[in-house]
Amino acid sequence: MASVRIDFTSSLYLGFRHGAGELPPWRQLTIGTPSAVNRWPIADQLEVEISGLCGTERALIGRSTLHLFWDLIGAFDPKEWEFIADEHSYPLAQWAMSRLCRQNERPRLFRHLDVDDIARRCAEITRRRKRPAIVTDSFCSVCGQTPDLARYSELAENSGGYVLIDDTQTLGLMGKGRQKKYPWGFGGGGCIRFHGLEHRRVVAISSMAKAFGAALGFAAGPAEIISQMKSLGDTRWHCSQPTIVDMEAARNALCRNSTEGNSLRHRLKLLIDHFAKTARAKFIPILESPHPAQAVLLPSPAHAERCRHYLSRKGIDVVRGRGHLGETRLLFLLTVTHSFNAVSKALAEFAESMSLSEPDHVRR
Ligand SMILES: Cc1ncc(COP(=O)(O)O)c(C=O)c1O
Repeated sequence: MASVRIDFTSSLYLGFRHGAGELPPWRQLTIGTPSAVNRWPIADQLEVEISGLCGTERALIGRSTLHLFWDLIGAFDPKEWEFIADEHSYPLAQWAMSRLCRQNERPRLFRHLDVDDIARRCAEITRRRKRPAIVTDSFCSVCGQTPDLARYSELAENSGGYVLIDDTQTLGLMGKGRQKKYPWGFGGGGCIRFHGLEHRRVVAISSMAKAFGAALGFAAGPAEIISQMKSLGDTRWHCSQPTIVDMEAARNALCRNSTEGNSLRHRLKLLIDHFAKTARAKFIPILESPHPAQAVLLPSPAHAERCRHYLSRKGIDVVRGRGHLGETRLLFLLTVTHSFNAVSKALAEFAESMSLSEPDHVRR
């Protein structure tokens, strides 16, 4: 058993940890009220900083993306609006949409990343004299593709609608001004900056618990929707708000992002390139993806389990994943805290585990 483990299971992509020494001391953790009753003053400052980062009129923090999606869906009058979600979008937005469904009814879905299907469904919604709200993720880490959000927002706006985006997997990674050498752009403000959707009819909801390492979330978008969420939001009345430590950690993340973010993102990109190049050199099949969640493709769940156990015995932790059709994968979540050597070692051990897990008749 190796003494120092190499951990590829964490999505703290930029390596922000917010230890006690990095944050101001606190005298109490929570004020014991929901945010609709009373808030820490730091919450207002944080929201101003977040809307500056994302390029939106307003922002609203919340306990988690589930709380925020619940309140976002509740901010639209169902007599006027219809929601459609990407069939493979992360489940939280769909859970929140199901609050509008009758018993045994499911949220309406469009084909994965399919602009023509969205256009057709928007036209149907308009014919029913309603307005569409298109729900999607900013990036599909399962197939490594980025939706054409500029096109989504044109389609929504042509019918007086909105695009509602789960930006969790790209906040802190994507930003404005992408170039060939810097394909994610700069600043880490997420999909609104990346696609140039500032001041469009788009709301992005993000967890700050991935790249930014702070256990809370936010919604960022036009003032009209954010104030509806503020005044109508059920969770703002009935749930606890983020603690002072969550908010101080979020501010620390924004501060560190503004000073170190671009160089950390660049290092992460080089690490991803190194992963892909090393895997190719060892004939390890991987999903082509620009994202730090790198997937190795495997022929069966049994292979995956054997490889995962082998890696674990060698001190390397990875996560089981699945493709859209249930295909077997192992995920290596890369963060800036990994060394290039650690990535090379992990892939060398993986190649070894693959040769050991081949059926007997092909084993060399
Ligand atoms: C795309 C996406 N959205 C939302 C979440 C949930 O984040 P949280 O529970 O921190 O709000 C996750 C967590 O993995 C995620 O990957």
